[in-house]
Amino acid sequence: MRKPNVLMKLGSFRGVHTSIFILGTFALLISIATLSKFYSIRSLLVADAFCNYNVDLKSEGRNGSQVIRGTVQIVMEKIRKEMSDLRDLPMDSSSPASLLRHSAFLADILGLLESVQEYLPLNEGIGYWHNSEIKAVHPLLKPKQQSDEPADYFLIEEIRKYVKVKPNRLGKQNFMGANGTFNSIGHTCFSMKKELEEYMDYDVGEICNDDWKLAQKLMVHGCDPLPRRRCFSRAPQLYSRPFYINESMWKLPDNRNVRWSQYRCKNFTCLASNATHKGFFKCADCFNLTDHEMPRWIKNVDIDPITNLTADFLIPEVLDIKPGEIRIGLDFSIGTGTFAARMREFNVTLVSAIINLGAPFNEMIALRGLVPLYITINQRVPFFDNTLDLIHTTRFLDGWIDFVLLDFILYDWDRVLRPGGLLWIDSFFCAKEDMNDYLEVFKMLKYKKHKWVVVPKRDKDDREVFFSAVLEKPPRPFRR
Ligand SMILES: *[C@@H]1O[C@H](CO)[C@@H](O)[C@H](O)[C@H]1NC(C)=O
Ligand SMILES: *[C@@H]1O[C@H](CO)[C@@H](O)[C@H](O)[C@H]1NC(C)=O
Ligand SMILES: *[C@@H]1O[C@H](CO)[C@@H](O)[C@H](O)[C@H]1NC(C)=O
Ligand SMILES: *[C@@H]1O[C@H](CO)[C@@H](O)[C@H](O)[C@H]1NC(C)=O
Ligand SMILES: *[C@@H]1O[C@H](CO)[C@@H](O)[C@H](O)[C@H]1NC(C)=O
Ligand SMILES: *[C@@H]1O[C@H](CO)[C@@H](O)[C@H](O)[C@H]1NC(C)=O
Ligand SMILES: *[C@@H]1O[C@H](CO)[C@@H](O)[C@H](O)[C@H]1NC(C)=O
Ligand SMILES: *[C@@H]1O[C@H](CO)[C@@H](O)[C@H](O)[C@H]1NC(C)=O
Repeated sequence: MRKPNVLMKLGSFRGVHTSIFILGTFALLISIATLSKFYSIRSLLVADAFCNYNVDLKSEGRNGSQVIRGTVQIVMEKIRKEMSDLRDLPMDSSSPASLLRHSAFLADILGLLESVQEYLPLNEGIGYWHNSEIKAVHPLLKPKQQSDEPADYFLIEEIRKYVKVKPNRLGKQNFMGANGTFNSIGHTCFSMKKELEEYMDYDVGEICNDDWKLAQKLMVHGCDPLPRRRCFSRAPQLYSRPFYINESMWKLPDNRNVRWSQYRCKNFTCLASNATHKGFFKCADCFNLTDHEMPRWIKNVDIDPITNLTADFLIPEVLDIKPGEIRIGLDFSIGTGTFAARMREFNVTLVSAIINLGAPFNEMIALRGLVPLYITINQRVPFFDNTLDLIHTTRFLDGWIDFVLLDFILYDWDRVLRPGGLLWIDSFFCAKEDMNDYLEVFKMLKYKKHKWVVVPKRDKDDREVFFSAVLEKPPRPFRR
């Protein structure tokens, strides 16, 4: 796969795109120069902050920037020389010899850049927010007169290209009323520089690394949205078409349609068997379609023997609150899409928001013929205000969740629910002593209570309770 691409690149260097190459080189030099500027700012700060080590650090710093300057000089010379050499090559640049030469040249440059990278102060990634000496260099904290392009912060060219504003061609406003396109990344990406640079380190036009797990880690930790990439995502080695819709809902999908490399289970049978428990702990039985999933929301399965109460409402009894009115919605849960599969039978269209926590939930939902929505809880849900008829959530929001976070989430869900829409909190659980605080947060919405039940949870010495409710968003008329 690699060869044709390099050839292509080589071809374009030789031809009409020579000017692009020169521009690219120029950008590279600017970026290196900028980095050395970062470095000198940092060395000054270090000297101020730690007077005792003043001399040592300063001289080390000086040496560091000298090394950078020297290396940059070498890089510049090499690029200049390479360019003139390339110009002198015969037009048939696809010969193996020139290919080899070119690859060696690129490798050389890469090595040099890596050696420069070692001297750079901002390479630490995670610990970065806590590191006072580096604060002054953060693009969001820097004084305005310095370059405040987030692009300057990253070394990988693809990230820089991605976050730079793309002005519209012809210099006009586009039909959306903007002068350009503004690709954004989550601000936490800045504190996960190393991981993000690893993620964005690929060859344009090639197959991406098998790194969805790195991507998900970035997202979960707030580097969300992630930048787009210009490589082809990995697919399963032998993808076979999904089952027809008349059988896909209740049948474990073909194992070949999932990339299993990052999971402990290597097939769906393993995920479904309750002997293995290798999926996500909150959903250990979710892949057991016939025994565990079939009855859910259709038959009462968990009735508390003492109180004769259940936290599991049935779909027909909830839909009967508003017959025919509930048509579209969002399921924010950990599961394999069974809720959406059942709702489909009632002509309700749901999307299932979920990430791949320990098991290929997104693939499973899609292979069943339902719509998986790959978003984390960090993000505002991607729906417009007052649009959805239903939001359902189970096994996701639990006693781990911060009260302020829950507040933000509920207001966001309230935003997208239409007046008269239903919020179905399904088996929320937490420690007994926390329940009243959580109930206060839910009451804050001032929704109409159609169902509201607190049921003891018996599996952990009675120390936990379930809460389930079906709530209706009020109309909230307002005056202009
Ligand atoms: C500066 O760096 C070079 C190698 O990069 C090293 O040999 C030299 O000892 C360093 N000098 C000081 C003062 O640290
Ligand atoms: C965007 O374009 C409009 C006119 O098309 C112009 O008035 C405005 O200053 C531009 N804004 C920016 C930030 O360039
Ligand atoms: C499902 O649909 C396909 C194609 O429409 C058909 O060939 C097949 O017999 C159906 N299977 C069942 C179990 O109904
Ligand atoms: C599924 O994977 C398990 C181990 O993960 C293995 O023991 C079993 O043989 C596999 N089954 C099939 C049908 O591939
Ligand atoms: C699903 O669960 C039932 C009962 O818990 C069990 O007997 C069955 O083997 C499980 N299914 C699979 C595919 O492991
Ligand atoms: C499998 O699940 C069933 C029903 O939930 C349970 O009775 C059985 O003990 C489980 N088996 C194992 C090996 O966990
Ligand atoms: C439990 O409640 C259901 C209705 O919710 C009722 O039909 C049933 O008789 C009750 N069982 C007991 C033992 O009270
Ligand atoms: C769903 O829609 C179909 C076609 O419009 C209709 O035949 C069916 O009765 C509906 N099902 C339910 C449960 O309303």
